[in-house]
Amino acid sequence: MKKIFILAIGFIAFVTMSFIITKEEPPRYKNLKVLSKNTTKEEMDSLMHHFARSLGQRCGYCHAFNEEQKKMDFASDAKKEKEIAREMWKMTAKLNKKYFDVKDSKRLDAKLEVTCFTCHRGAKEPETKSPIVR
Ligand code: HEC
Ligand code: HEC
Repeated sequence: MKKIFILAIGFIAFVTMSFIITKEEPPRYKNLKVLSKNTTKEEMDSLMHHFARSLGQRCGYCHAFNEEQKKMDFASDAKKEKEIAREMWKMTAKLNKKYFDVKDSKRLDAKLEVTCFTCHRGAKEPETKSPIVR
């Protein structure tokens, strides 16, 4: 009898635990090709604002608007800028890893030496000419 009771308690505890774990899972993004599937909402918001601010643009610069649903479709790959951004993300991670010895350069909590802002400085196309010295 005692054994069954302990087993029952154990089972209830197990069910409760798995419920808590599933509940705390980060939101699922539908179409991640370069970012980790475990990216949390906080990390995604922070990174997307970094992208937008670094280029002096808004979300719609890379993300398509769904006319039928009258809302942004963030998972869509309709805009070429989104694909370019993916390549830029890979390049930025590589620069950090290869030239600046940043380990885990693709992790969103890594302390990077080169970011989108390093080159873009608030513009779509980075400057190539240095300022004129008078
Ligand atoms: C410079 C381009 C760029 C800008 C600007 C940008 N994003 Fe993104 N966003 C991306 C890329 C690239 C991905 C896909 C990452 C991947 O493939 O792992 C993405 C993915 C996302 C996703 C995940 C969609 C899914 O379900 O797969 C969300 C949500 C998102 N962006 C929101 C935003 C918001 C909100 C803004 C404005 C604050 C924004 N983005 C601005 C490039 C951009
Ligand atoms: C090492 C410098 C460098 C870094 C770092 C960098 N970029 Fe770029 N990016 C460029 C250059 C240079 C161009 C312009 C290429 C051209 O005009 O053909 C560009 C172009 C782009 C474009 C296309 C702009 C257009 O007018 O078509 C997007 C989108 C973009 N970058 C996003 C990003 C994002 C997002 C990041 C960070 C993940 C990033 N870039 C990091 C140098 C950089």
